[in-house]
Amino acid sequence: MLRAGIFGMQQDGAPEESEGKKCAWKGHKARMQMRLDKREEYVMSEWKQLWLQYHPVADQGFGAYAGTVVLDGFVNTPVINSLKEEAARGLKGMLGTEPVFADQAEGACIRIRRVDAVASAKAEEELSENQKTESYRILVTPEEIRIEAAGEKGALYGTFALLRAIGTGKALQEAETETVPSNPLRMLNHWDNMTNDIERGYSGDSFFFKDGTVIVDERTKDYARLVSSVGINAVVINNVNVKGDATDLITDRYFDKLAAMSEIFAAYGVSLYLSLNFASPIEIGGLDNCDPLNEEVIAWWKGKIAEVFGRIPNFGGFLVKADSEGRPGPFTYGRTQADGANMLADLVKPYGGTIIWRCFVYNCTQDWRDYKTDRARSGYDNFKAMDGDYHDNVILQIKNGPMDFQIREPIHPLMGGLRKTNQMLEVQIAQEYTGHQIDVCYLMPMFKEVLEYHTYCTNHPEENDRQKEGAGDQVKDIVSGRTFGNQKSGMAGMAAVANTGNDANWTGNDLAAANLYGFGRLSFDTELSSEEIAREWAQLTFDTDKEAIDVIVRILMGSRATYEKYTSPLGIGWMVTPGFHYGCSVDGYEYSRWGTYHRADHLGIGVDRSSHGTGYAQQYYPENAEQYEDPARCPENLLLFFHHIPYTWKLSSGQSLIQYIYDSHFEGYEEAEGMAKAFEGLKGRIPEDSFENISGRFRLQLDNAREWRDQVNSYFYRKSGIPDEKGRPIY
Ligand code: GCU
Repeated sequence: MLRAGIFGMQQDGAPEESEGKKCAWKGHKARMQMRLDKREEYVMSEWKQLWLQYHPVADQGFGAYAGTVVLDGFVNTPVINSLKEEAARGLKGMLGTEPVFADQAEGACIRIRRVDAVASAKAEEELSENQKTESYRILVTPEEIRIEAAGEKGALYGTFALLRAIGTGKALQEAETETVPSNPLRMLNHWDNMTNDIERGYSGDSFFFKDGTVIVDERTKDYARLVSSVGINAVVINNVNVKGDATDLITDRYFDKLAAMSEIFAAYGVSLYLSLNFASPIEIGGLDNCDPLNEEVIAWWKGKIAEVFGRIPNFGGFLVKADSEGRPGPFTYGRTQADGANMLADLVKPYGGTIIWRCFVYNCTQDWRDYKTDRARSGYDNFKAMDGDYHDNVILQIKNGPMDFQIREPIHPLMGGLRKTNQMLEVQIAQEYTGHQIDVCYLMPMFKEVLEYHTYCTNHPEENDRQKEGAGDQVKDIVSGRTFGNQKSGMAGMAAVANTGNDANWTGNDLAAANLYGFGRLSFDTELSSEEIAREWAQLTFDTDKEAIDVIVRILMGSRATYEKYTSPLGIGWMVTPGFHYGCSVDGYEYSRWGTYHRADHLGIGVDRSSHGTGYAQQYYPENAEQYEDPARCPENLLLFFHHIPYTWKLSSGQSLIQYIYDSHFEGYEEAEGMAKAFEGLKGRIPEDSFENISGRFRLQLDNAREWRDQVNSYFYRKSGIPDEKGRPIY
């Protein structure tokens, strides 16, 4: 039977790299792991509860209500049982109270009450079914703390919210809230392989798969608790690059285990999704093609999909990476992306299923000598022309930027560029290019920038588009479905490539858990600030004094800016070790086939993406395009993404570009040192294992930042011949 390989090139860093590169990558990875292992003494069989530790807190008045929990209008179901279990656990841990669950209460109580609706009727009209049943309200009266919800998932989220209020030391009245999830879908995409490893995983192996089998155990449940507590409602458990055994996840080999996993997830309001191999009809169906318009292929999928939905309860649908980095897809047969997506969508529709189709389609065999082809253009070029051709249960999933999760990129022009097609945002909390969960890099500030970006799409209505009157034009309005009227159908939202693994602390660096927590919270409520989220996370995670929390929050809040300073400057990106993507290699990708170039010479650096260059800037609406087009108006942090700039160019600060490169790299290293030093002050104030974990990572981060600083500075000094005005060491 045919297996992967027939469709050619693989993704970056995967086995089809040259043998030499492969060994270098593996060697580097192994060395890094050894360095980490030596510094950590985690007992790997025990995993942490992270922000669900429920450590004891000073009671702000909640204890008086916590003796009885009344379920009013809710009957025992798996979700309600989860709610009860969590409430009991949280109240006991934090307040020392063991609540009684009853139909009515004698004195003060926590009442969980079913209501018809949480949001106002007008707001309700716009919401998806999901959002209606996931909303909650918390009210505090002298008699009761009331959690109101129209569905059991809302009741569960409301319970988590109350526990969070207690855990973060809120006063009673501050627990009051009315919360409607901002996004219908709030998803995690795990890139776990069935060979145990995780593509771009930096925290151990998979806890979903081991040696070709699916794992369902106590950790599955703790995983579901953790993600549900921050509002995640959908999870893809396997890598988008579906190969080997993973292709068989849609066969009888795995149905029982997947059904068991799905039931555990469902009890926490989470739907299970799978990534799909578009070539399944060939690889497991024995057909000789996977042409989406071929009758035999369609018939095969029809049977297969009936089987999958029949065997896995609460199954959500499929995520598909097609025609991307060597993965099979409709292009092979001269068909469009819409042909592929719609064929599958029609077949999952009777089961209420969704097809999430990724827009990460580009030419990964580019010639570096070619200045016209531009990887940044490819998403828009491949998908804009077919806007409106996708069926209503297809969602196009778009990475936040046009390249690949760099520390700084412009917003993807398909955001708001697509006006008649369901779309959702994909971000990456796995720190592939942002420090591998060794370097601290809290990503909520970046995600907030993405969500708050104005696309100006509403200024340019098109015939037959679905623009809602008075709709906002920010990315958060678009991906939630509010702008183009696809919120109601639930075909909208946010996804993150997950950063978890089977390390005891789940995320490698204890501090990286703030990104897992943060993504969930932010996708549930896009109005939260990065700092609020960081503070909540720190308070729930560390049982320590306010000053220590302040230190942790300050470290997190500054970490992205610091990382950006010591790595690639002003939006140019890359400069990382090829394949592995950690550590500096300025020319690592410069002469490669991946379309990721900085084009530095002795006079300047950057890629001309204006209309004189690749024309990428013109993919935006005019308000943005005009700015990007002109180096004098282009946001400076994206200057090198859009323009080739001389080293002597004066920035708004008065610094020349070359001096900015030197200054920011020296500063970035100093800031990293400052963070590490501030953290050292927490010795004895946070648990010893966390302290050791984080300070060990900081030592590695400093090595990394120093290499970046010196390599980048030396590289540009050697290219330009212009010395540092301040005469600091450059090599
Ligand atoms: C990046 C990443 C790959 C991944 C790909 C994707 O290129 O390096 O490992 O498969 O993104 O998003 O599909």
